[in-house]
Amino acid sequence: MNDNTALISEIKSLLGDSEHKAYVRSFGCQLNVSDGEKIKGQLKKMGYTFTESEAEADLIILNTCAVRESAEDRVFGIVGSMKKLKEQKPSLIIGIAGCMTAQSHVADKIKQSYTQVDFVLGTSAINALPKLLLEALKGAKFSADITEYDDFSEVAEQVRDSSFKASVPIMFGCNNFCTYCIVPYVRGRERSRRPEDIIAEVRGLVADGYKEIMLLGQNVNSYGNDLDGEMSFPKLLRELNSIEGDFIIRFMSSHPKDASKELIDTIFECEKVAKHLHLPVQSGSSEVLRRMNRRYSIEKYLEIVDYIRGKDPDFSLTTDIIVGFPNETDEEFRETINIVKSVTFDNIYSFIYSRRSGTKAAEMPDSTSDEVKSRRMRELLEVQREVSSEHYKRFIGRTMRVLVDDTAKKRDGWLTGKSSEFIIVEFEGDESLIGRFVNIKVTDAMNWAVVGELISG
Ligand code: 5AD
Ligand code: SF4
Repeated sequence: MNDNTALISEIKSLLGDSEHKAYVRSFGCQLNVSDGEKIKGQLKKMGYTFTESEAEADLIILNTCAVRESAEDRVFGIVGSMKKLKEQKPSLIIGIAGCMTAQSHVADKIKQSYTQVDFVLGTSAINALPKLLLEALKGAKFSADITEYDDFSEVAEQVRDSSFKASVPIMFGCNNFCTYCIVPYVRGRERSRRPEDIIAEVRGLVADGYKEIMLLGQNVNSYGNDLDGEMSFPKLLRELNSIEGDFIIRFMSSHPKDASKELIDTIFECEKVAKHLHLPVQSGSSEVLRRMNRRYSIEKYLEIVDYIRGKDPDFSLTTDIIVGFPNETDEEFRETINIVKSVTFDNIYSFIYSRRSGTKAAEMPDSTSDEVKSRRMRELLEVQREVSSEHYKRFIGRTMRVLVDDTAKKRDGWLTGKSSEFIIVEFEGDESLIGRFVNIKVTDAMNWAVVGELISG
């Protein structure tokens, strides 16, 4: 890790005794949200406090996502609207971090067209934050650092958004180069964190009272491939499972090509590991999967599903699906619909294909119209709604162990939480239960959640 101590103390003395507020907003996946928590950790050391209001802020950092064009457009819109804020408060500093800025054409565009921005910071350059911020505080017009730092993973300080749910990145980057995906270009190659660092972090979190540990990686089940056989993902799960305490372990995302029987056996064997697997299928057509470079066929995917459901017919699976991959035919889309019906996912996260410049798929001819893609998306959502409503009924009458997240949005006096199966559970209860495990007897099922009665807190 870079030793930024000197830079951080220089910023601290420059800011002086008066309060300086930072607004940090993260977009996209949980790994990015975790990076945002590390950015906040750095800022806290410099003496910043935090605000949820852009207008109140002395420093704004947008931590961006590049997976789909819509996410980028949103950020450009927000940055555009910040021009006014900067005019009203010229001392305001605006920095853009994350996957979007790791693409040099985006960094150039920001420099040329968005003069309100003071600096851009790529994905692995969080260590460079003190340097760029100091330059901005000293009045530099624009600075950028989008080089990849390999040592970013062990930035220790974090300001976590939750006091009972913690994200723990276990690896960074991706080697898979799915043809639609920008991630390998903006996050670099796979790097696994040292197992002892992960275990120590989880131990510390459990000792601090965290109840849910979410292990993160673009492809978590290839964890350890770069560690010379010293540690694999199933082995890491077993090690974490043996830490004493009352907590649940989740992980995201798994690639079907690396979903071994050993991994599945481990999920069943480890009592602290959630009984849920997020296994992105992307498409129900082997031909589309080939064009996506996913390196499994739909038959191989179904073999994994069969192995899991052979052990527990009710096991909860969720998935990601891309609709409208270049030249996806009607028949190929039908295959996706069939898979959604036959696998009975508890939830799907579906996305219309978004062309990402620099990826292989961006060069593929695509004659499917946007209208057809939107129609397919609507149909997929409709089918999933039916599947979930039917499938959630299996929980009625059962008792679920639920980690209480928050108050329910629409019903006064109600709370919302997640079961081990990653199902949303709503029930009547007191706010003091937030952050605790409770047992809920399920009485009814909807298509997005189940409802029930509190049995014990
Ligand atoms: N267009 C649409 N969806 C995408 N995803 C990744 N890249 C794209 C893209 N170019 C989806 C995949 C992945 C999820 C995180 O985002 O389904 O699993
Ligand atoms: Fe993207 Fe594929 Fe890597 Fe996931 S596995 S981050 S979809 S390239």
